[in-house]
Amino acid sequence: MDKVFKRNNVVINSTEKIITMDRFNLKNKVVLITGGSGFFGSQIIQALVEKKAKVINIDKKKGKEKKGKIFYYETNILNEKKLNQAYKIIIKKFKKIDVIINNAAIDYKPNKKNKLQDNFSTTTLDRWNHEISVGLTGAFLVTKIFSKYMIKKKKGIILNIASDLSVIAPDQRLYKHLNTHKPVTYSVIKHGIVGFTKFLASYFADRNIRVNSISPGGILHKQDKKFIKKIKQLIPLRRMAKKNEYKEIIQFLCSDASSYMTGQNIIIDGGRSTI
Ligand SMILES: NC(=O)c1ccc[n+]([C@@H]2O[C@H](COP(=O)([O-])OP(=O)(O)OC[C@H]3O[C@@H](n4cnc5c(N)ncnc54)[C@H](O)[C@@H]3O)[C@@H](O)[C@H]2O)c1
Repeated sequence: MDKVFKRNNVVINSTEKIITMDRFNLKNKVVLITGGSGFFGSQIIQALVEKKAKVINIDKKKGKEKKGKIFYYETNILNEKKLNQAYKIIIKKFKKIDVIINNAAIDYKPNKKNKLQDNFSTTTLDRWNHEISVGLTGAFLVTKIFSKYMIKKKKGIILNIASDLSVIAPDQRLYKHLNTHKPVTYSVIKHGIVGFTKFLASYFADRNIRVNSISPGGILHKQDKKFIKKIKQLIPLRRMAKKNEYKEIIQFLCSDASSYMTGQNIIIDGGRSTI
């Protein structure tokens, strides 16, 4: 049997045959995600577990757990004191944090149940403050607290979840028949997340912490039929995303496979933002 050793992330045997390692592998990596109990967060967790990561889900709503793989930690990401406590507990238990994913946000689903009574002109300051807090302040607090470990170790990856609405405006005609609208906060948060990503990428570059964001288009999931029909017309591929279509980009951005990428916003939207 050939002697095998590792050099620069490739496995080499004694006859210098290179066996490339799976650079998407997340074995022994500890990933912390916010909002992992929700619709997209649980898909992100599946994508990471498939590559053998241990995932800690920080959410105020109970999430699924899986022994040795998925851990749930109940916290409101707006509570700095609780986040600091969580940091201590998590470091004690898991010894490290390799990846942070800022995913939690308030995302009203377009159906008859989720009617927003107000419009832009009547949006209350309370609603503005609350939504901006969850989507932006929460990402700031979580990153500030949990990146402490990465700064110390001079290594880490941060992934921010934006939206196709980080680069284009919502088309309010999609929501008109439901007598609702996409709130202004969503645009501000998602454009802000891209700015946050660029800031952090530049700020953390010398600490070997890479920071990127993804901007997914809407995922097909029990939306109102008329809404689906209308949105398809705005997407060159003429359909919404399927549930598993973001899996590989998440695995890529959370692993060494993206080792030379930082500060980028990857838009995967069936081409919607190009027309
Ligand atoms: N669903 C889509 O089609 C889609 C498309 C593009 C982008 N996104 C983005 O993906 C992310 C997740 O969206 P989703 O569809 O899963 O929404 P979701 O509402 O299903 O999940 C959001 C999760 O965040 C949690 N959360 C909210 N406020 C919190 C707080 N203060 N503290 C802790 N946890 C909190 C909720 O409990 C929930 O589990 C969002 O950033 C959203 O903008 C979703």
